[in-house]
Amino acid sequence: MSELTMERLKNNLESLKMRNTLEILDNYLERAVREQLNIVEVLDYIFSEEADNRRRQAYEKQVQLSGFPIKKTLSDFDFSFQPSLDRRQIEELATMRFVWNAENVIFLGPPGVGKTHLATALGLVAAQHRFSMYYINCHTLIEQLKKSHYENRLPDRLRTLGKYKLLIIDEIGYLPMDIQGANLFFQLIARRYEKNSTIFTSNKTFSQWNDVFADVTIASAILDRVLHHATVINIKGESYRLKERKEFMKQKQQIVNTLYERNA
Ligand SMILES: Nc1ncnc2c1ncn2[C@@H]1O[C@H](COP(=O)(O)OP(=O)(O)O)[C@@H](O)[C@H]1O
Ligand SMILES: [Mg+2]
Repeated sequence: MSELTMERLKNNLESLKMRNTLEILDNYLERAVREQLNIVEVLDYIFSEEADNRRRQAYEKQVQLSGFPIKKTLSDFDFSFQPSLDRRQIEELATMRFVWNAENVIFLGPPGVGKTHLATALGLVAAQHRFSMYYINCHTLIEQLKKSHYENRLPDRLRTLGKYKLLIIDEIGYLPMDIQGANLFFQLIARRYEKNSTIFTSNKTFSQWNDVFADVTIASAILDRVLHHATVINIKGESYRLKERKEFMKQKQQIVNTLYERNA
């Protein structure tokens, strides 16, 4: 290949933004000649590498923009610690069928049982499937919606939040909501209803949602839409945070005992 051809090839790769190919080209061409690869093998390798690289970059960017407080996966989750949880049900959710079907998922349970962990892990799977997704804490969501309302930007904000294929609304009910907040929340739920999936987490039972949303009528309108097509996962176990804390305290005590015995 003449130097001119090589330069033109590289310029074209640059303008086509095939950065991965540009990087591997010199080494790979040498290998292709050495191993006498045919043209189809060469093209297959180059385009597979380029496509993989683009998928990886898109995933990383999506995760970076998603607003996750933790980035834990399903394989980081210890199912044996939470026997009330049906592992197959979580694995079914990880197929992303619920996202294709615009269904919701609700994780209920006391603090520390892994609600945020599981919601986030499903969000990461969604990102691998190239679904647009976003994580937001419920209190922050309401604050943002109120701000948008006062700045006359509410329709834009609702449109943006309405479009994510998967929205994760974490910690419903940790902080009380006023009627205006509940109304704004309802508008978002109504907009996403049967169009896109939402994962909710809450430490409150559904019967307590009446208090969370300040008004019984709004609460039942919200619950009606949220639960129409939904998988509810009630986690009834112990807090993993407490388990970690107990283990930490036990280890600390063992070290103190050893030191004490040594000095005795
Ligand atoms: N079964 C589990 N296996 C591994 N880590 C867990 C498990 N449950 C919870 N955790 C971890 O414990 C911490 C608290 O879990 P989190 O999901 O924030 O609880 P919740 O949202 O229910 O309050 C996180 O660091 C999470 O990764
Ligand atoms: Mg949480």
